[in-house]
Amino acid sequence: MAESGSPFLFWFSFFCLLHSLPVYYSISPPPRFPSSLISPEEKVSLAARQNQLYRTKYFTQILDHFNYYPKSYDTFQQRYLINDTFWGGAKSNAPIFVYTGNEGIIEWFAQNTGFLYETAPHFKALIIFIEHRFYGKSIPFGGKKDVAYSNATTLGYLSSTQALADYASLIIDLKKNLTATDSPVVVFGGSYGGMLAAWFRLKYPHVTIGALASSSPILNFENITSPYSFNNIVTKDFRSESCYKVIKGSWQQIEETANQPGGIELLRKSFRICKNHFTGYDLEGWLETAYIYTAMTDYPTPSNFLSPMPAYPVKQMCKAIDDPATGNDTFAKLFGAATVYYNYTGTATCFDPNDNSDPHDLGGWQWQACTEMIMPTSGNNEESMFPPSEWRYQGRVSYCEGAYGVEPRPNWITTEFGGHDIKRVLRRYGSNIIFFNGLRDPWSGGGVLSNISESIVAIVAKEGAHHVDLRFKTSEDPEWLKDVRKQEIGIIAKWISEYYHDLALDLLS
Ligand SMILES: *[C@@H]1O[C@H](CO)[C@@H](O)[C@H](O)[C@H]1NC(C)=O
Ligand SMILES: *[C@@H]1O[C@H](CO)[C@@H](O)[C@H](O)[C@H]1NC(C)=O
Ligand SMILES: *[C@@H]1O[C@H](CO)[C@@H](O)[C@H](O)[C@H]1NC(C)=O
Ligand SMILES: *[C@@H]1O[C@H](CO)[C@@H](O)[C@H](O)[C@H]1NC(C)=O
Ligand SMILES: *[C@@H]1O[C@H](CO)[C@@H](O)[C@H](O)[C@H]1NC(C)=O
Ligand SMILES: *[C@@H]1O[C@H](CO)[C@@H](O)[C@H](O)[C@H]1NC(C)=O
Ligand SMILES: *[C@@H]1O[C@H](CO)[C@@H](O)[C@H](O)[C@H]1NC(C)=O
Repeated sequence: MAESGSPFLFWFSFFCLLHSLPVYYSISPPPRFPSSLISPEEKVSLAARQNQLYRTKYFTQILDHFNYYPKSYDTFQQRYLINDTFWGGAKSNAPIFVYTGNEGIIEWFAQNTGFLYETAPHFKALIIFIEHRFYGKSIPFGGKKDVAYSNATTLGYLSSTQALADYASLIIDLKKNLTATDSPVVVFGGSYGGMLAAWFRLKYPHVTIGALASSSPILNFENITSPYSFNNIVTKDFRSESCYKVIKGSWQQIEETANQPGGIELLRKSFRICKNHFTGYDLEGWLETAYIYTAMTDYPTPSNFLSPMPAYPVKQMCKAIDDPATGNDTFAKLFGAATVYYNYTGTATCFDPNDNSDPHDLGGWQWQACTEMIMPTSGNNEESMFPPSEWRYQGRVSYCEGAYGVEPRPNWITTEFGGHDIKRVLRRYGSNIIFFNGLRDPWSGGGVLSNISESIVAIVAKEGAHHVDLRFKTSEDPEWLKDVRKQEIGIIAKWISEYYHDLALDLLS
C-alpha cells in the first residue's frame, strides 16, 4: 500500500527529532502505500506481457452514487481487464474472480497478481481486474486528469465508498450482460485493494460470496494500532540480520556531516548523487524509503514489484552493510545497502534523492490520505532503527489544508467500516473473509492476525512480506508459501461449494 514511493514520503518521521519545529510536517505530504520506483525496462516488459493476460474494456460509470444532484448523474469511463480463457460459462454458473483495484494503474496489479490466473483453471473462473476511479485510465471529468485532479470540488468524488459502489455496479451489470446472474463472485485484493475486498464483502454480501484480503491493514486507523508498529516491524526485519545497529547509528552521522562545511559535497560523492541541491533530510528520506520498501517486499524470490530486487533483499542489504571491505565507513555501507533497492539491475548512473516520479500513477493517494485514509504509521519509539519521532496528526492536517483546503476525517473509516473490537463485532456478523498477512510486512501490524470466526479466518506467515501470496508462482517458492496458497484455495473452494449447495436448494423450492 503505499506512500508515493518517493523519498518525500517519510520525511515527517524524521523531522520531529532533528528539528524542534514542525515546519516540515506542514509541508510534507502524507505517505502513500507502495511506492513507485520501476525501471524503464520493466515498463516495456509489462506492456509486452499484458496482451497475453487479458482484454481491456470500459464501463460507463456514474460519477456519484450517493445523492441525486444533477451533477451526480455525470458519468466517466471505468477501465476493467477481463480474461475468460478458463471460464466455465454462465450455463454452469461458473465463478467470477474479481480483483478490487487499488490506488494505481490496474495493469500493474494485474501483472503482480498471478494467484487469480493460476487458480482460475481449477475453478473454471472468469477473471476481472477493475481499476479504481481516479487512477490509471479511469478518470472522471472526461478522462482529463488535470481537470479531475484540479481541486477538492473534483477530487471530492475520490473515496473508498464511491469505489466500492463502482465495483458493485460494474459487477452486477457485467453479470447481466453475460447472463451469469447466478455465478458466484469472489473478490480479491492486496494492500489497499485488500481493504476494499474485505469491506466489499461486509457491505455488499449480495454481490460477493467471499473475499481474500491480502496484507490489508484495516486496523491501521485511529488508535487501534500503535503508530510505532509500522517502523518497529521494519526494525525487526533488519534486526534479525544484525545490521540494524549500523543503520540506527547512521542518522546522526548523516545529519552532522550535512551541517559541516563541505559535508553535502562529501555526501554527494559517497552516495553518487546527481544533483548538487539536496539536504541531509533528502538523503535520509531516500535511505528510509529504501529500507521500508525493501522490508515490505522482502520476498523469498527475485521480484520487481516496486523496484527490481533479489530474493530476500533485506538479507542482501545487511550483507552489504556488514561487508568487511567497507571497514568503518558508514556511508559506504549505507550506499551498498541502498544499491540493493535502487540499482539492482546495475543501470543507474547516479541517484536523485528528490526523484518524485510516479510511474504507477499513485498520486491520488495523497488526496485519500488527506480525507479518509488517516493511517498513523510514522511514529518511532526507542526500539525503532529510525530516529525517535511522534506521529503528528496535526502535521497531516496542516499539509492537507494547505494542499487541498480540506480537513481530514480521521474517524470516518471506522465509522463506515468498523475496526474497533473487530473480533467481538464480526464474530456473529459477516462471513467468508480470508485475511492474509506476512509478518515481515510492516503493514501487518494493522492487519487481522487472529481468527474471528469459523469463516473469517486469519492466515499468518511468519516469513511472508506484502501480499506475497498473490504473486505469480515461481519454481523456488518455499514450502510455507505453497501451503498458504493451498489453504486459501481450499477455503475458497468451500465457499463456492456451499454457494452451489444453497443455489440448488433455491432452485428446488
Ligand atoms: C488469460 O490468461 C492466460 C495466462 O494465464 C493466457 O494464456 C490467455 O491468453 C489469457 N486470455 C485472454 C483472453 O487474455
Ligand atoms: C476546481 O476545478 C474545476 C475544474 O478545473 C474548476 O472548474 C473550478 O472552478 C475549480 N474550483 C475552485 C474552487 O477552484
Ligand atoms: C453491458 O452491455 C452494455 C451494452 O452493450 C454496455 O454498454 C456495458 O458497458 C456492458 N457492461 C459491462 C460491465 O461491460
Ligand atoms: C482510542 O480512542 C477512543 C476515542 O477516540 C478512546 O475511547 C479509546 O479509549 C482509545 N483507545 C485506546 C486503546 O487508546
Ligand atoms: C575502525 O575500526 C577498528 C576496529 O573496529 C578500529 O580499531 C579503528 O580505529 C577504526 N578506524 C577508524 C578510522 O575509526
Ligand atoms: C549501478 O550498478 C552498476 C553495476 O554494478 C555500476 O556500474 C554503477 O556504477 C552503479 N550505479 C551507481 C549510481 O552506483
Ligand atoms: C485460523 O484457523 C485456521 C483453521 O481454520 C488455521 O489454519 C489458522 O492457523 C488459524 N489462524 C491463526 C492465526 O491462528
